[in-house]
Amino acid sequence: MVIPGLQDKEVKMFYPPEELQMDAHVPDFNSYLAMYKKSIEEPEEFWKEAVQEFYWKASPTGQMLQYNFDVSKGQVYIKFMEGAKTNMCYNVLDRNVFDHNLGEKVAYYWEGNSPDHHMTITYSQLLKQVCKCANALKQLGVKKGDRVAIYLPMIPELVFTMLACARIGAVHSIVFAGFSSDSLAERIVDAQCSVLVTADGVYRGEKLINLKQISDEALKHCHEKGSLTVQKCLVVKHYAFRTTDACSKLQTPWNVKCDVWWDEVVDTASEHCEPEWMDAEDPLFILYTSGSTGKPKGVLHTIAGYLLYTFLTFKYVFDYHHNDVYWCTADIGWITGHSYITYGPLANGATSVLFEGIPVYPHVGRLWEIIEKYRVSKFYTAPTAIRLLMKYGREPLQKYDLSSLRVLGTVGEPINPEAWFWYYNVVGQGRCPVVDTFWQTETGGHVLTPLPAATPLKPGSATLPFFGVQPSILNEHGEELEGEAEGYLVFRKPWPGIMRGIYGNQERFQNTYFKKFPGFYVTGDGCRRDKDGYYWITGRIDDMLNVSGHLLSTAEVEAALSEHSAVAEAAVVSCPHAVKGECIYCFITLKDSREFNHTLMEELKRKVREKIGPIATPDFIQNAPSLPKTRSGKIMRRVLRQIARNEKDLGDLSTLADPKVVEVLFSQRCQAAA
Ligand code: PRX
Repeated sequence: MVIPGLQDKEVKMFYPPEELQMDAHVPDFNSYLAMYKKSIEEPEEFWKEAVQEFYWKASPTGQMLQYNFDVSKGQVYIKFMEGAKTNMCYNVLDRNVFDHNLGEKVAYYWEGNSPDHHMTITYSQLLKQVCKCANALKQLGVKKGDRVAIYLPMIPELVFTMLACARIGAVHSIVFAGFSSDSLAERIVDAQCSVLVTADGVYRGEKLINLKQISDEALKHCHEKGSLTVQKCLVVKHYAFRTTDACSKLQTPWNVKCDVWWDEVVDTASEHCEPEWMDAEDPLFILYTSGSTGKPKGVLHTIAGYLLYTFLTFKYVFDYHHNDVYWCTADIGWITGHSYITYGPLANGATSVLFEGIPVYPHVGRLWEIIEKYRVSKFYTAPTAIRLLMKYGREPLQKYDLSSLRVLGTVGEPINPEAWFWYYNVVGQGRCPVVDTFWQTETGGHVLTPLPAATPLKPGSATLPFFGVQPSILNEHGEELEGEAEGYLVFRKPWPGIMRGIYGNQERFQNTYFKKFPGFYVTGDGCRRDKDGYYWITGRIDDMLNVSGHLLSTAEVEAALSEHSAVAEAAVVSCPHAVKGECIYCFITLKDSREFNHTLMEELKRKVREKIGPIATPDFIQNAPSLPKTRSGKIMRRVLRQIARNEKDLGDLSTLADPKVVEVLFSQRCQAAA
């Protein structure tokens, strides 16, 4: 690796502030290089040292990291610390309370949707609540290895439940509480969950959402699919206990055979619960992510590797120190929340903010107000949130004291220079490094990322690999490219936190990530490496959409649209969007007798919201009398993408069956799109 800044003179570099370097874990670039070198050249030693931090009931029996990435040599597998025994919950809670004396330390400042609702939870309170929940889950019949579906908003009970599962060896499958009943059902059926944990209702901004009703609809769908595995539904009284609505606006449907109120079984349960000693490679959780075929993939993570990797990345990437107050604005329903609200921060004994609300409620300065209120020092959010708040200018920030901030992080999509500079100059007041962290649900934790006191920054680049990570760029033929290059981003070897599979589907796991280039994990992202060896993510190279930092597949949106009785065919592409990064542009071919009008458009949008959730709502829907297809009948998405973006230079169209289609589509494109 070359020293950054020496080769590439074209891009301005931003160097770490000295103040941060004084007591940083990795205080300069040479220290990063030395640690990185050790992690690659002596991985056994490196990982052995790192796991000293945690409690192991039994030691590993073989090598720390064992794997096969080459499908031509047999099954793909990854194992970390095979033979070791431990418990995730014990390591992130009991160890902090009893070994590190952090019982009185705040684990979470919970800040509700309304600024009037807040609560503080210390490590010992968290441990007690988790044990109570663990005992209640056992009482509901949950055993080691069982899957528990969690459909909760950003409330403390969400953290209690996931850690309770980890304590008793159950596997949590959290479904973002903005997903529809159909999406929830699909995930419950795939993981065959035996218990569903949800809440009566929640306010998101001013909107009241009846979570119990959606949950009941989901269970009905499971039943219709002939796969109702859920025996019990545990319901948190969140709306009933924590809103100030004078009279109830919510009807909570109730099924006496299945439903149980949280306060009736959890609050009365014992505060003591022995952790279940688990194998290092036992499953910890399943988290669904969109797949290019339309059916979501249940990404499976296991205990020891994920524990170590989220611990290390949190510590080094945010340069965590004991007196920090850290805040990640993601929802725990996504991987960012799993790794960097729950497991990584708790493994480090950190104090975090847990925020239920949205950035613009009850006013557009809410995030800045919270930073001031809790004196947040490390702040992690997504480019889409930055772009949204940029629109309101500097004024909402100037009302608050943001001087506590030290490090800013971003995740989820490439950050455009304008948003980067606003984040750096306006939010961070030119004082805080911006760590642009590239990673995926599948990677478990950061894989390309700066370290704030060590890595000179280039706006828009996720910079360099984390310890133990070996990126490579391949061309179409699978050849590794050296030096400055652009192509497929792949990884040559696993690191402890990488996924172990797709739940119940080894074949799909291998086909999706390992088949195209045997010997490599294929991310699905395009990437450029510059003269300094810095990595720049150029975006997805498959049929995925990245809307506000959330991945969706074109196929799942198309499937939802095609369910409408008027639709003969649907094709969906991404289109640039000023706030969301990318938005959803749909081409619809109607059945003969149907008319394309406003009512139909609204029905189609509703259909997608119902099938997937509000995040997938189409932004543009265009009538397409016919779609551009090859002679063999394949839709030419490249052409549709260019029409949506109004790019007139379409290149080679010789494979198109009927070139006239393109003219018609151009003449009718939605003018408001890019
Ligand atoms: O395309 C990349 C983009 O988000 C994808 C992973 O999405 P998901 O599994 O939902 O996880 C999101 C949170 C980790 C990646 O394949 N992505 C994520 N972070 C970045 C990014 N693209 C560019 N820069 C990033 N920092």
